[in-house]
Amino acid sequence: MTRYAHVTGWGMAVPDRILTNEELSQMVDTSDEWIVSRTGIRERRIVGKGESTASLAAEAGARALVRTDLSAGDLDLVIVATASPEHLFPATACLVQDSLGATNAGAFDLSAACTGFIIGLNMAAQAIITGSIDNALVIGSETLSRLVDWEDRGTCVLFGDGAGAFVLQASERPGGVLSAVMRSDGSGGSILSVPAGGSRYPTTHETVSKKMHTIHMNGRDVFRFATRVMAGATREVVERAGLELDEIELVIPHQANKRIIESAARGLGLPMDRFILNIDRYGNTSSASIPIAACEALERGRIRAGDHLVLVAFGGGLTWGALAMQWVAPEAKVPPSRRRRRAVTAFFARVRSVVRRIIRIIEGLIWGASSHTDD
Ligand code: UT7
Repeated sequence: MTRYAHVTGWGMAVPDRILTNEELSQMVDTSDEWIVSRTGIRERRIVGKGESTASLAAEAGARALVRTDLSAGDLDLVIVATASPEHLFPATACLVQDSLGATNAGAFDLSAACTGFIIGLNMAAQAIITGSIDNALVIGSETLSRLVDWEDRGTCVLFGDGAGAFVLQASERPGGVLSAVMRSDGSGGSILSVPAGGSRYPTTHETVSKKMHTIHMNGRDVFRFATRVMAGATREVVERAGLELDEIELVIPHQANKRIIESAARGLGLPMDRFILNIDRYGNTSSASIPIAACEALERGRIRAGDHLVLVAFGGGLTWGALAMQWVAPEAKVPPSRRRRRAVTAFFARVRSVVRRIIRIIEGLIWGASSHTDD
C-alpha cells in the first residue's frame, strides 16, 4: 500500500497585545510610513506576562488537534520548529507534549529559523510515508519579542510573536505532501543571528552589556539572499512534484517583507493574488508565519480541497526551502462536541502532568533516601 501524509488539522494562537507602528515610532527613530513602505508591516502581536513559546505552541497544537478525529494520545511525534525556544533544553516540544497529554509521542525542537516549519513538516511527512509513524503534530512557534533589541530600529520593527500548527496523518488517499526542497549555507550564518547564550559565547556580563543575546541582522544582505532563493526553491519543488507553475493555486510564503514576496512573484511570473499575505497584521513571526498564514487562508476559504499549494521560506542559518502539497482535507467546521473534548483533554493533561511531577518528587525522596542509606 502506498502511504500519503495529509494535513487533517490546523490551528493558530497569537497574543492579544497588538503593538502598532505608531507606538514603535515613540520608542525608536522610525515612522509608520517608513515601516509600511519598506516592509508592509502595520502591527504585530507581542506576548505578555505568563505567555511563552511553549504556551503559544500548546494552544495552537490543541486547536489543530480538535479539528481531527485524533486525541493527543494518538500522536506519535511532536515537532516544534522555533528560533526562540523556551530554554536551551529541555525542548519546547517536550513541554508541549506534556501540556497536551501526548503520552505516546516522541518530541523534539527543530532549529532552522524561519525555514523550520517547512523542514519539520517534511520530516514528519517522510516518517509517515515510510510507515515509521502514523500521526504527527508540527508546530511553528515564536516569541521573538523576547530576543529583540528594542533600541535597534533596524530589527525591532520587523518581528512579532505567534504560533501555528498542522496535524499530519497517514492515508491511502493520494495527495498531501508531494515534494520538498531543503537547503542551507552556513557561510552566511553571521548575517542573521543571536550570537550569545550558546557554547561559543556563554552568558557573561560582557555578552549581556554588548547585547549579544538579541537579534543581530544585516537587513540588506538578508534581503538580497531572500530574493535570490525564493523563486528558485519554488520552481524546484513544483518540478519535483511533477507539476507546472500554473497548476499551483496558492503560494504561502514566509512573511518577512512584502517587497521580498513581490519580488518572488515577479521572478516566478505569478500574479500577487496567488500569494497569501498577512504580514501587515503580524510582522515576521519566523517559523510560525507560514502556518499562521495557512490557518487564516483556510478560515477565509482561500484553500479548497484539491488545490495545489507551495509553502516557501528562508531564514537564519542560512536556510531556505519549499514544500509542495495537494490539499485534500475537507473545510470542516469544528463541532461543539470537539471543542468540549478539547477542554476536557486539556484538563486531564494538566492533572496528569501534576500527578507525574508529584510522583517524581516522591520517587526522588525515596531513592534519594535509599542511596544515602546505601552509603
Ligand atoms: O526572516 C528573515 C528575517 N529578516 C528579513 O527578512 C529581513 C530582510 N531585510 C529587509 O526586510 C530589509 O532590508 C529591511 C526592512 C530590514 C530594511 O529595508 P531596506 O530597504 O533594505 O533599508 P536599508 O537597510 O537599506 O536602510 C535604508 C535606510 C538606512 O538609513 P541611511 O543609511 O540610508 O541613512 C537605515 O538606517 O533606512 C534606515 N532605517 C530606518 N529608518 C526608519 C533602517 N531601519 C529603519 C527604521 N525606520 N525602522
